[in-house]
Amino acid sequence: TVAQEVAHAAEQHGGSLHHRPAGQAAPHPDGDNAEDGSGTEAHGGTSNGSGAAGEPRFDLVLALTGADDLPEAAAMVLAELDWRSGRGMLGAEGFALGRRDGVTVVLADEPAGLLHGLFQVVRLGETAFGATQPIEVHHPVTARRMLNHWDNIDAHPVMGQVERGYSGGSIFWRDGGLTPDLGRVRAYARLLASIGVNAVTVNNVNVHATEARLLTDRLGDVAALAEVLRPYGIRTHLSVNFNSPVALGGLPTADPLDDGVRAWWADTTRQVYAAIPDFGGYVVKADSEGQPGPFGYGRTHADGANTLAAALEPFGGVVHWRAFVYNHTQDWRDRSTDRARAAYDHFAPLDGQFAGNVILQVKYGPIDFQTREPVSPVIAAMPGTRLAVELQVTQEYTGQQRHVCYLGPLWHEVLAFEPWGDGRTVAAVAAGRGADNGPTGFEGGLVAVSNVGDDPFWTGHPLAQANLYAFGRLAWNPHLDPAAVLDEWIDLTFAPAATADPGLLRQTLHEVMDGSWQTYESYTAPLGVGFMVRPGSHYGPDVDGYEYTPWGTYHFADRDGIGVDRSRATGTGFTGQYPQPWAQVYESADSCPDELLLFFHHVPYTHVLHSGKTVVQHIYDTHFEGADRVARMRSRWAGLAGLVAPDLDARVRERLDEQSRCAQEWRDQINTYFYRKSGIPDAHGRRIH
Ligand code: GCU
Repeated sequence: TVAQEVAHAAEQHGGSLHHRPAGQAAPHPDGDNAEDGSGTEAHGGTSNGSGAAGEPRFDLVLALTGADDLPEAAAMVLAELDWRSGRGMLGAEGFALGRRDGVTVVLADEPAGLLHGLFQVVRLGETAFGATQPIEVHHPVTARRMLNHWDNIDAHPVMGQVERGYSGGSIFWRDGGLTPDLGRVRAYARLLASIGVNAVTVNNVNVHATEARLLTDRLGDVAALAEVLRPYGIRTHLSVNFNSPVALGGLPTADPLDDGVRAWWADTTRQVYAAIPDFGGYVVKADSEGQPGPFGYGRTHADGANTLAAALEPFGGVVHWRAFVYNHTQDWRDRSTDRARAAYDHFAPLDGQFAGNVILQVKYGPIDFQTREPVSPVIAAMPGTRLAVELQVTQEYTGQQRHVCYLGPLWHEVLAFEPWGDGRTVAAVAAGRGADNGPTGFEGGLVAVSNVGDDPFWTGHPLAQANLYAFGRLAWNPHLDPAAVLDEWIDLTFAPAATADPGLLRQTLHEVMDGSWQTYESYTAPLGVGFMVRPGSHYGPDVDGYEYTPWGTYHFADRDGIGVDRSRATGTGFTGQYPQPWAQVYESADSCPDELLLFFHHVPYTHVLHSGKTVVQHIYDTHFEGADRVARMRSRWAGLAGLVAPDLDARVRERLDEQSRCAQEWRDQINTYFYRKSGIPDAHGRRIH
């Protein structure tokens, strides 16, 4: 149970768990029940002497508000909370933290809250054991904080085992089955609990033949993973194939309105819950990049999603239905079809038609996890639908965990974006809160594609762990400052205080990581244009690699200018999918922010940006500067010799060497390309090939 895990973890950190409701035996940290005879639990933890009544006293007490006979310090904290707003206020995952009478107290209504509170104590370190502090109450802003693993059981011939995975093989699957290393999964679950993640899908959204069977005859493997994740407050979800009734059930159709199909989903789902009573639900990629879906049967996505939702509803499960639906067999000659428009065109008309347990999962940008995109207009277009916002922690388009690219600042920008310009943020939409921050009943969540594999450093690049950490922390509280989140991660990961030069270690990590997203942006695709990457792998520069393909990802560079005209006046009309003020801001090249100019407009190379530079000079300057910054990152890191573990140091150096090589390649290809197209020389006469 979660409570047992809290007891284990608390003991490791020198505390005790006090959670026994009246009349029940207390769980022992080893998992057995142990009755201490007095009605209170008093084991584990660091005793700091005996109280007046001979009762042991603890530095740290973790207690459920419903427990009887609380230790004195916990009772004091509870009394203050009662005075504030009464029991039950902490909710399913919230907790209160305070220090009274020389004891640090975590109080929660539910065991999951104790778990989150315990990890807050770990984050605070000694501070949590300092002088009496005012009582803090913590609640997750976003109730649903989910990771999607794009892991396959079998290695895919092109993608490998983990689609867009840069950290070795899957942490869940090995050699065609469940990993034998469930201890590693358990460590992963603890890691996720420490950052507040509470839901995980264990297989790829592209559900291939073997993985489809996780729903039926291979369900036991999913149940085994759920057993490991459950004690850490994490619910297990499954990506399912829309065609399952045909492929697995042998039915002649997967038409969502067919009675036999509905019965098949209902029956199959009942069996899933028999094996995994707290199963979270399904994730579905339908009619997307070749996956089957309701369009194949002349039905809408609401029809499709609602059929699966009806099967899950009796058990409290949800369907995460992905909005990543677009035409991937487009004719590049056809300039009227705009991939950016697709999700809105497909889904906005369906607002209000989805069942209450359908969550529409929308990528944060209208295209596909590019380094720079505007926020998807779908997020503002569906007030009658539960919306989850999908981020990509795996660095598919941001350096593939070979480049340092701390994504906290990107996500912070997305989450703080105000689609209506009136104070309501993307984070609030995902949390299901309206303008007044009150619940609307439309809680959706934040979802991210995971970057973890079986790599010894978890994430390939050791510094890419910060992205996983930041996702969890920002999902819990989107208002956190990403630089402060990075500070937390640095302290927890490198424990600078215990090193010979804490200041140098902290400062170097900040210098290398703080601005690394902007650095990455500066040496890759400029001004929001996107997709100048190698087709297929998506690593390294290839300016025209996608220009004449069916994927709908074009930049339209010619001898005079570059960019996609998405205006209403002369372009694809995409700007019209935004509410005001953005519909107007993006419509005009004069008001469009520089960093998104080429996403929304086709302009001459001589167009002058708000920065005062021409587009082409901006391209030259950012590419020279970006590659130089990477060289500086590399030499800054070299100055850390001896302050970090040798194996980690070696791994980071190897990656920085590659980043440096790759940044120069980007610089030279991009600059050369635009010099050749435009014929305009660099104002500073630097070397362009
Ligand atoms: C991107 C990515 C694919 C992935 C897809 C998705 O296109 O390259 O590997 O399947 O996103 O989000 O479904």
